[in-house]
Amino acid sequence: MRIIRTDNYDALCKIAADIITAQILLKPNCVLGLATGSSPVGVYKMLVQKHRDEHLDFSRVRSFNLDEYVGLSPNQEQSYAWFMSEHLFKHINILPANTDIPNGIAENIQNECDRYDAKITSCGGIDLQLLGIGQNGHIGFNEPSSSFTCGTNHTRLSDSTIKANKQYFETGKRIPTHAITMGCRDILQSKRALMIALGDNKALAVRDMLTGPITPMVPASILQLHRDFTLIADGAALSKLENHKLAVNTLTSP
Ligand code: GLP
Repeated sequence: MRIIRTDNYDALCKIAADIITAQILLKPNCVLGLATGSSPVGVYKMLVQKHRDEHLDFSRVRSFNLDEYVGLSPNQEQSYAWFMSEHLFKHINILPANTDIPNGIAENIQNECDRYDAKITSCGGIDLQLLGIGQNGHIGFNEPSSSFTCGTNHTRLSDSTIKANKQYFETGKRIPTHAITMGCRDILQSKRALMIALGDNKALAVRDMLTGPITPMVPASILQLHRDFTLIADGAALSKLENHKLAVNTLTSP
């Protein structure tokens, strides 16, 4: 496990974008696992810049997104499909056929979960999985529960997640209560995992993920077993680790 501490969001995004770039250079036809939420927005912005200015080539890259709300179609602005198109896909040369996001309006959600896992497997698994973390320690939309999830699954969002994501929905609009998410097993099986965490509202989740027991009550704690896990975080997100002996690599911006 590697922990990198940065002093600002730009520095954090630059490191994450550089790692993703290195993955694409290493394996131009790599499979990226992508995340949504506010944390990766700046990372995508830097990847778009690298595509424009440094010709970073996504033409052979495949991608799978972590999750999608059930009930939202890709042309609804709050859907994660819309988010990915706006923040990344429409600005780079990735082939639309090479991007996959769970279909939140599939007629049969279980079939959609099965299709998603089969597709990930047929592409050889995820080479690099980008992650954020929820305030309750969720990854993707794997919420605290009594057992770790396996593959892609249909999940009920916890009240705290619904509350945290409320900001993205207009007042009065119905907020989704369910989602399709890659499972903890899918995430754990990725060859590399890269998490970005910022803000003091993530500090307890980060502490429990890294120093607490490995328990499905903190889904991100399963990453303690990941073969190649890098956390890039700001000081606020790492603030509850002060009494724990973890090697933190501090990078300051020039
Ligand atoms: C949602 C997503 C997660 C993400 C989390 C944190 O719940 N499903 O994948 O990690 O939000 O989002 P943010 O980066 O906005 O704090």
